[in-house]
Amino acid sequence: MALIAWSEAFSVGNPLLDSDHRILIDLLVQLHDAVDTGQSRDVVGSVLSALSEYAEHHFRREEGMMAACGYPDLEAHKAEHRQLEAHVRDICGRYRAAERGALDEQVVELLKKWLTQHIQVTDNSYKPWVERVVDGGARPPSVTV
Ligand SMILES: [Fe+2]
Repeated sequence: MALIAWSEAFSVGNPLLDSDHRILIDLLVQLHDAVDTGQSRDVVGSVLSALSEYAEHHFRREEGMMAACGYPDLEAHKAEHRQLEAHVRDICGRYRAAERGALDEQVVELLKKWLTQHIQVTDNSYKPWVERVVDGGARPPSVTV
């Protein structure tokens, strides 16, 4: 897998969501490394679970924030999230069932493509909305003195 690291190119203009995206990218790199170096099923399985759980946690947070600032494409965005959640749950299930090829380099590569494209295209679309949100709440109107 080509190296992937968070950079400003991934910024969606909100520190909390950027921090979530850094964690997701980091977990994906950990997953890649665990698969690549032939770690035990316990190790790979726990990184996969951590990625799945953090993705679900992050999606809820992101959706809450989009809803709070009246982002118009919320439903389509949520649908993409549900799709990925279902996909990752499917991978988890097939991995637990020890299905051959359930989690090889190709699967990790596809997850990487999905995540980077989602952040840089789909998430980037809400940037002008969430930039106005601070700590999950609306930024107070500026006071003229
Ligand atoms: Fe998203």
